Amino acid sequence: MSDEPLIAVVPGSYDPITRGHLDIVRRARRLAGRVIVAVGDNTTKNYLFTQDERVQLARASLADLPDVVVEPLTGLLVDFAAAHGASMIVKGLRFAGDFDYELQMAHLNSHLQPAVETVFLPAGRAFGTISSSLLRTIAHNGGDIAEFVTPEVLRAVTARVAGGT
Ligand code: PNS
Repeated sequence: MSDEPLIAVVPGSYDPITRGHLDIVRRARRLAGRVIVAVGDNTTKNYLFTQDERVQLARASLADLPDVVVEPLTGLLVDFAAAHGASMIVKGLRFAGDFDYELQMAHLNSHLQPAVETVFLPAGRAFGTISSSLLRTIAHNGGDIAEFVTPEVLRAVTARVAGGT
């Protein structure tokens, strides 16, 4: 076995990153020596933040975590993983709906790149079932999402839904 640390990719849209995501990244870091948070850009999605903004918010939210970096994801996830020397993709599962979709992606990713393994982590109990989209809806309607995101994300969401920066 190699002495090189295992590298895990934790991909997602992170629009914006939530405390549920942060929990998965922290736990992925316990499984792997290094973690790359890969911020995707799905053209079918109508994002609140640009990819660059989502990368910056993830970086600000994860600044205290050593051996974790945040990078934009372009192209196929498995190609990104291979290019970064990662041997696993870590995904959080909240409920059955996540599993149906994630299993399909895991099978296709395994077909495309058998050397990269997908690992599913059960979402944490505290913030596990929240979603970025529900938080965006709450914020758009004037609700308080402070408990579920970092102060940096809260500031950015508040400014964006108010029509500011
Ligand atoms: O948080 P999301 O929106 O579910 O994240 C989706 C993401 C970025 C993980 C997914 O769209 C992705 O992996 N995109 C890269 C393109 C790719 O490899 N797609 C999967 C082919 S099976």
